[in-house]
Amino acid sequence: MWLYLAALLGLYFLRRWYQERQTVENLTEKYVFITGCDSGFGNLLARQLDARGLRVLAACRTQKGAEQLGKATSERLKTTILDVSSTESVAAATEWVKGCIGSKGLWGLVNNAGTALPSGPNEWLTKDDFAKVINVNLLGMIDVTLHMVPLVRRARGRVVNISSVNGRLVIYGGGYCPSKFGVEAFSDSLRRELHPFGVQVSIVEPGGFQTNIFTQAVENLKKVWNRAPSDIKEVYGEQYLENYYQICQYTVNIASSKLHPVTDCMEHALTSCSPRTRYSAGWDAKFLYIPASYFPTSIVDFVVSCIQPKPAQAV
Ligand SMILES: NC(=O)c1ccc[n+]([C@@H]2O[C@H](COP(=O)([O-])OP(=O)(O)OC[C@H]3O[C@@H](n4cnc5c(N)ncnc54)[C@H](OP(=O)(O)O)[C@@H]3O)[C@@H](O)[C@H]2O)c1
Repeated sequence: MWLYLAALLGLYFLRRWYQERQTVENLTEKYVFITGCDSGFGNLLARQLDARGLRVLAACRTQKGAEQLGKATSERLKTTILDVSSTESVAAATEWVKGCIGSKGLWGLVNNAGTALPSGPNEWLTKDDFAKVINVNLLGMIDVTLHMVPLVRRARGRVVNISSVNGRLVIYGGGYCPSKFGVEAFSDSLRRELHPFGVQVSIVEPGGFQTNIFTQAVENLKKVWNRAPSDIKEVYGEQYLENYYQICQYTVNIASSKLHPVTDCMEHALTSCSPRTRYSAGWDAKFLYIPASYFPTSIVDFVVSCIQPKPAQAV
């Protein structure tokens, strides 16, 4: 009986492995639009897909980022400037994409742009701080998607949304985790709605990787503390800041500096005949955060409370 089950399971994984290895045809004729290509995953993915011969339409937030990417890639790759938090900018980028692809349709939309600034314990932040992050990571993604989906539908293409393990498990405050939970919810509804049109939606959930978003959030922590109201500072105390900062710094130090596990997932979602619904990228995502997200809340609370620093006025 167990042998029979093991054989069935083995066959299932073998079949899945085989299906996932099949790639779509005519990749060199396919257009892929990527947001947030100045640095990090977006930048590497743009170069990776360009090297594979796809027609990459790379959106950078800054002119400098666009110029640098242009110099490092082939003439096939085209760049534009995009601020995903501005609907005017999103509309202009959509017109630009339409001009690039003509009647072909857009094979891939990769919603990668993101920010974690400002981040910190909830009470140190204001409503505006939460709004800044949610505006880019969630509302920006929704806006770009609503503008581009008709083009993706025409190509029966792919939408790849970059979430995070923090869209599955929350271990710190601020707008970042709520924005990524929103990304998960939006992507799930989008996948179900676009399925009848032959459009496939994948979610990529990276663990910790050493990119600007991560390092900047930690560097910015002291700024957030400095402008917190004095009564809040008394409640938490300088030692809390110091310990919190050390923990964050440690997580940055142990994070991987090799970004390809994430961009390989993005590339697979765009090029495989059988893309996955969810990709977890990084050993910490696979073996720590995603499994822990299924644990009872009381267990996760206990573990997090053991790691978190104690506020000065903790009871
Ligand atoms: N690194 C990690 O550990 C990690 C883990 C899980 C998920 N992620 C997600 O991965 C995605 C890429 O981040 P990354 O790690 O590669 O960090 P990154 O190097 O900071 O890349 C983020 C990109 O988004 C751009 N961006 C920021 N605000 C924007 C806006 N309003 N409009 C357009 N573009 C904007 C940034 O441009 P500027 O640099 O000019 O601001 C940058 O090019 C993000 O969605 C992030 O949440 C990262």
